[in-house]
Amino acid sequence: MLKAILSKKELSELSEYYGCIDDILRDDEVNSLKEFRHHIGTTRFQHSLNVSYYNFLLCRKFHLNARSAARAGLLHDFFLYDRLEHISEKSHAEEHPKVALENASRKFSLSELERDMIVNHMWPVTKTRPHFRETFAITLVDKFCAAAEFSDMVIKFAKSKAQLAACVTVIMFMRMSLK
Ligand SMILES: [Fe+2]
Ligand SMILES: [Fe+2]
Repeated sequence: MLKAILSKKELSELSEYYGCIDDILRDDEVNSLKEFRHHIGTTRFQHSLNVSYYNFLLCRKFHLNARSAARAGLLHDFFLYDRLEHISEKSHAEEHPKVALENASRKFSLSELERDMIVNHMWPVTKTRPHFRETFAITLVDKFCAAAEFSDMVIKFAKSKAQLAACVTVIMFMRMSLK
C-alpha cells in the first residue's frame, strides 16, 4: 500500500504520478527512510511521500513542472540520521536540506529546478530564497503536510484515549452489575 495522508487513493495505481517517482521508490536508501520517525507521528518516508504527492497535485494544477515536484518532494528530507541524536553546531533547519541534496545528487540525476526545491524547501526559516515557482510550492506543501501529520496524530491519540475510557466504563459498569 502506498497512500498519502488525507487520501484514500492507492498511489501505485496513479500512473501519471507513479511514473514520476517509481525509480526513486526502488532505491534501498530511500526505503530506509521508513526507519526514521518524523514530525513525531509519522515516518520520514511517509512524510516525503505526502509532500511528493501534494506537491505534484499543486504544481500540475498550476501548470508547473509536476514531475520535478513529485521527485523533489520525495527527496527533500533525504537525510539518514535521527535528528534528536544528531550532534551538530549548525541548526537542523539549515543543515538537513543540504544533506538531503548531497544524498539525492549522489543517487539520482537532478535538474537545477529539483536541486533548488530540495535545498530551499525550508524557506523562510532559512535565508536563501527559492528561485522557482515550484520551490515556493514545496515550501507551502511541506508545512501543510507537517500540520496534517501532527493533526492526524492528535486525532488518533484522542480516539485511542476515548476508546480506552469507553472500555474502562463498560468494565466498571459490569463489575457493579455483578455485585
Ligand atoms: Fe525538511
Ligand atoms: Fe519535510
